[in-house]
Amino acid sequence: MFEAKKFIERSVGEIKSTIGKERAIIAVSGGVDSFVAATLASKAIPNQLHIVYVDNGLMRKNETEKVKEVAEKLGVNLNVIDGKDQFLDALKGIVDPEEKRKIIGREFINIFEEEAKKHNVKFLVQGTIAPDWIESGGMGRDTIKSHHNVGGLPENMDLKLCEPLRELYKHEVRELGKELGLPETVHQRQPFPGPGLGVRIVGEITSENIRIVQNACDIVETEIDNADMERPWQYFAAMLSSKTVGVRGDERSYQYTVIVRAVRSLDGMTANFSHIPFKVLEKISTRITNEIPEVGRVAYDITNKPPGTIEME
Ligand code: XMP
Repeated sequence: MFEAKKFIERSVGEIKSTIGKERAIIAVSGGVDSFVAATLASKAIPNQLHIVYVDNGLMRKNETEKVKEVAEKLGVNLNVIDGKDQFLDALKGIVDPEEKRKIIGREFINIFEEEAKKHNVKFLVQGTIAPDWIESGGMGRDTIKSHHNVGGLPENMDLKLCEPLRELYKHEVRELGKELGLPETVHQRQPFPGPGLGVRIVGEITSENIRIVQNACDIVETEIDNADMERPWQYFAAMLSSKTVGVRGDERSYQYTVIVRAVRSLDGMTANFSHIPFKVLEKISTRITNEIPEVGRVAYDITNKPPGTIEME
């Protein structure tokens, strides 16, 4: 049985003794893991913590504004860094999923290290949870995906790591969030991958593709949130790099395919596709093809994990 109160007490003590009198940096992404890690660290070392939010351009629609709002409500002093162009440039022409993940991880770390130098920081606090490092391989395990807060770390990194949630699973982190007083919109929020929409764009990441996936994800989230149905564990849209033929009006079209994905899961390690009512899927499909002119086909992913993974890459 996981006891949130006890965990918080122990973890705050551990963070204090790990970091000592040094300064630390943490990046919040808007998700429950990083907000919980940041809140624990602020309790432990309130005057030694530099909290950043990196807008890498691969976040959900209007995410930066939402994160700022939550931080304000929590009274957290957030430093927003605009890294949109830096990430897009680094990802130009890259199609291999592992390479994309590593580049995104590397750019994050470059930004952290720069900030760390500026603020004389010695530690990097991260919201890494158990499935992140289990799936990233090591200790005799196969690498399934290099989760960005694990695989992207260079060997010669200048910062020491502090990962207070390393042994926890998602549902336990949510309990912690509730206990720590985070808003429900944060502690009950569906998971979002570290590399962001980068793993939901199959093939090259361009600003056009990012906009397509942002809008498609927003439609999927809105329609499922508003539907009279059990909320899936995770639900979003992704896009394929290839186009298919269709008709728009009387004319032939040749447009992108969006994949709608919704799964039931406990911890993301295994998952089953959700049985979304067809009415909801139809509304999603109609809205996507009406509102996103570059998309001509919408498919629902009926793959479980294994053999699929939840994200496309
Ligand atoms: P997969 O696609 O591996 O995803 O079945 C399992 C869960 O993890 C999320 N995910 C990530 N989370 N960094 C993260 O912090 C990552 O690099 C990453 N990749 C996938 C995914 O959204 C799902 O909830």
